[in-house]
Amino acid sequence: MSRVAVFPGSFDPMTNAHLDVAQRAAALFDHLVIGVLNNSRKTPLFSVEQRVAQIQQTVAPFGPHVEVKAFDGLTVDFARRSGAGFIVRGLRAVSDFEAELQMAHTNRKLQPAVDTVFLMSALEYGYVSSSLAKEVAQFGGDVTPMVPAAVATALHEHFSARS
Ligand code: PNS
Repeated sequence: MSRVAVFPGSFDPMTNAHLDVAQRAAALFDHLVIGVLNNSRKTPLFSVEQRVAQIQQTVAPFGPHVEVKAFDGLTVDFARRSGAGFIVRGLRAVSDFEAELQMAHTNRKLQPAVDTVFLMSALEYGYVSSSLAKEVAQFGGDVTPMVPAAVATALHEHFSARS
């Protein structure tokens, strides 16, 4: 039986904590679809096309069973369209758990056939978040320990073009 999972997120931008979870999930599932939310209610720093391209470049070494797609609407519908039985989410710290539990229960109510799987990101990335990476980059700090190389370059280009 082929085990398919989606790993949804805003990924604005992808961090090393996300990447660590993607790598663990890529080792666990036969097929992994990283879903980049195209949320019209939020104004992201990077367009959905830019985020998809950054992640594609970053996860290419994981192999052809990992793909990256933009999606909108409900995560459970994206999971169903992708033929996935699992939603992967990362936990960096206990503080992530409450919101994640609420999301997992909501998704289960919406689609009982899809289970949420939590993977703990590596301890060294416990402090990393997309918003902190953006703030550090905005003021010229070094984000290379926090985000993949393609994202560090994109952040640098974005903020140096503005100054
Ligand atoms: O990276 P994020 O912002 O923590 O990801 C949150 C995400 C995209 C997983 C969540 O907002 C989501 O699933 N959005 C799609 C809409 C949806 O399905 N909502 C109901 C589930 S809570």
